[in-house]
Amino acid sequence: MKGIILAGGSGTRLYPLTLGTSKQLLPVYNKPLIYYPLTTLMLAGIRDILIITTPEDQAAFQRLLKDGSQWGINLSYAVQPEPGGTVQAILIGETFIDHAPVSLILGDNIFYGEGIPSILKDSSRLTSGGLILAYYVQHPERYGVVSFDAEERVIHIEEKPAQPRSNWAMTGLFFYAGDVVEVAKEVRPSPRGELEITDVNKHYMRQGALKLRLLGRGNAWFDTGTHESLLEAANYVAAVERRQGLMIACPEEIAYALGYIDSDHLERLTASYLKNNYGNYLQRLRTPGRR
Ligand code: TTP
Repeated sequence: MKGIILAGGSGTRLYPLTLGTSKQLLPVYNKPLIYYPLTTLMLAGIRDILIITTPEDQAAFQRLLKDGSQWGINLSYAVQPEPGGTVQAILIGETFIDHAPVSLILGDNIFYGEGIPSILKDSSRLTSGGLILAYYVQHPERYGVVSFDAEERVIHIEEKPAQPRSNWAMTGLFFYAGDVVEVAKEVRPSPRGELEITDVNKHYMRQGALKLRLLGRGNAWFDTGTHESLLEAANYVAAVERRQGLMIACPEEIAYALGYIDSDHLERLTASYLKNNYGNYLQRLRTPGRR
């Protein structure tokens, strides 16, 4: 399976933070926001990843993430000239996708929890239709809301409904079979003028081909689109990391754990962080039995 990170957008809710830079380059505690969705795809076992950015921010993402070989993955880049909606990622990525199954993740989504890696690995085995993840939230009216029957079959999806039918919000992580480009081509702009991923999901739902995974309460899902949610996510990451001395979304650690890079390679990566805590952490990873 291939992966696409949607790291464009206008980030207007984060102004003035995003007047000079992309939302996905902002810090979440000790890492740029994009490290979180990137490592989510890595944990799903995905190594070919396309990063879609605004034209003006592309060079900064390339400076940060390079071609991915430092972490044993392949990163490529494409621009989205205007933020015309999430479905554009699939259309822009048509040649990259090349009829393969693909996972799409919004660049401002953070997933964390004990069950997440196995859900990601299972989901990446998808060969037909689509798969969405849903998370129980207090304010479903802010999200795409999913309702489902006793067998957890999706029966209704609605974008930001005034009267939500459930508390289950659709997260910004999607898995699709290789026919998704054809489905995306049929989507027409919504009343707010965007090509909405909800319409792709509704297509699969009508065919009975939309799978649903519910993320239980032991997991954390954040989107980081507002000042409050960005700070909450950073505080969460800081609290967990400082309590355990283990990092969330560290690409070097995940690449090492997955066997994409060896100990010598990790040592070379560590050298560039000199004496900060991030470098100290990478150094500790190479010590056998550190846990
Ligand atoms: P949103 O939070 O819906 O939009 P935004 O980032 O432009 O922010 P705001 O509403 O404050 O103006 O986007 C969700 C994610 O998807 C985010 O990571 C940006 C990305 N995105 C794109 O890359 N292209 C797009 O056309 C849209 C709509 C979003």
